[in-house]
Amino acid sequence: MKDKRDFLKVTDLSLVEARELLALAARLKSEPKGLRTQLLPGRSVAIVLEKASTRTRVSFEVGCAQLGMHPVVLGIQGSQLGRGEPIRDTARVLSRYCDAIVYRTSAATKLAEMATASVPVVNALSDDGHPVQVLCDVFTAEEHLRGGIAGKRVAFVGDCGCNMARSWVEAATLFDFHLVLAGPRSYLPPPAELTAAGSHVSLVHDPATAVAGCDVVNTDVWTSMGQEAEVSERTEAFAGWTVNERMLRPAKPGAIVLHCLPAHRGEEIDDATLEGPRSRVWDQAENRLHVQKALLVWLLGAAARIA
Ligand code: CP
Ligand code: NVA
Repeated sequence: MKDKRDFLKVTDLSLVEARELLALAARLKSEPKGLRTQLLPGRSVAIVLEKASTRTRVSFEVGCAQLGMHPVVLGIQGSQLGRGEPIRDTARVLSRYCDAIVYRTSAATKLAEMATASVPVVNALSDDGHPVQVLCDVFTAEEHLRGGIAGKRVAFVGDCGCNMARSWVEAATLFDFHLVLAGPRSYLPPPAELTAAGSHVSLVHDPATAVAGCDVVNTDVWTSMGQEAEVSERTEAFAGWTVNERMLRPAKPGAIVLHCLPAHRGEEIDDATLEGPRSRVWDQAENRLHVQKALLVWLLGAAARIA
């Protein structure tokens, strides 16, 4: 594909492009499900998952169907990736069959190898970020924030070194809001990422003041996929960082709560908050579908065909 674009991190998009994409997502969300089933006929998307997934897999598969595309889901088990075929070779072969690759993996080096494909590659979660999720989360936040996310105060509570937090750091720079990273001192993004974000990001290490004045409060699991061996030290390190009504008291009165899911109720968030009036997590999960459809349409150069 000539001049292919990837979406490996939030800042792969310019602000103008991100705005175009979110507007497209709003348009697709407002339409009947079956309206665009003729938009990209004959196109296929490989969805390669090296880790478990519910939302990402289903929303991309259903999204492809709603755009007239064919999704092909490939896991480690059952594909030659599990027997050591190089990712680079897989990328070349998939490029001959498919029009885009959606890839969930661990190390950034593996993602970079898949991105040698000649078709667009989308990062569907890696150790360094979960950019599709955060793009969807900005969309969800803006459905509820008067005047958009720019200039607002967003908190990420808990494991601020995790992939979600790291993509939120990028989003703060791109969309020009302030991100408070609130959690224990030893769980932070790499220093270079904090330096790059400059005054868009501040650090708080006290749960009592973590979300003060915030419009959006976001959290994620304390132990991400691949970190299972660290579960006990992490459970100990994050004690006291559960998002609950007490922590939320100093937030703005209308503050909303986001969680990318799956959630561990009673750990990073309590059940009452997840199910309570501030929670937007179910809209957030739904919006994966709409925003990722927009992303695929945009990457495959069909945005102009949606009048
Ligand atoms: N939030 C998210 O990516 O969920 P899955 O792991 O279920 O895809
Ligand atoms: N940080 C979590 C996100 C899951 C969608 C993980 O990587 O497991």
